[in-house]
Amino acid sequence: MTSDAATIAAAEASASFKHAMRRLASGVCLVTTHESGLDHGFVASAVTSVSAEPPTLLVCINRTATSHDPLLRAGIFCVNVLTQAHEDLARRFSRPEDRHLRFADRNWIRLISGAPVLEDGLAGFDCQVERTVSVATHTIVIGHVVATRTAGPVEPMVYIDGRFTAAASRGGFHPAFDFDRGWG
Ligand SMILES: Cc1cc2nc3c(=O)[nH]c(=O)nc-3n(C[C@H](O)[C@H](O)[C@H](O)COP(=O)(O)O)c2cc1C
Repeated sequence: MTSDAATIAAAEASASFKHAMRRLASGVCLVTTHESGLDHGFVASAVTSVSAEPPTLLVCINRTATSHDPLLRAGIFCVNVLTQAHEDLARRFSRPEDRHLRFADRNWIRLISGAPVLEDGLAGFDCQVERTVSVATHTIVIGHVVATRTAGPVEPMVYIDGRFTAAASRGGFHPAFDFDRGWG
């Protein structure tokens, strides 16, 4: 394969990966940190539970994100899970031109780490960085969860096919499978 052909093949693989990934529904989170007296944060969907004993999760952060270096230097972060009422926040925390407005309003509190926690977030996971792994363009940050917080009804924001949507739930959720109780 020539280098031109290899470049085209790599671009096609990347485009088809992105196209297929648009079909993977995810929750929407704000990953926040606090370093040298300043708050930083960005929208993230690459957030995954790793272990409950001890409580551990991971987030994947693009090395070009302005929060990347402050988060790694501070060694702390909070994963704030958004509700359907937070669409304005999701846009602000993903658009570079709105960066200066990210913490402009809403109520932010601190738990243990010192990272900003959204007071009316669906859930907050306050973390200390346990380990980092560099993969391609991103850093996988594994966090030890030092505190959690939940608020309000379970009305999550969902990101699918490039859009922020609400989880469809007529008359509440009726899960076929519950992590704690198994198949119901
Ligand atoms: C729905 C959605 C999910 C995103 N998920 C991630 C993610 O998991 N990791 C990441 O590094 N960037 C993610 N981004 C992109 C960042 O939010 C975006 O690049 C942000 O502007 C970076 O912050 P900065 O402007 O301070 O550099 C996502 C964006 C959107 C809209």
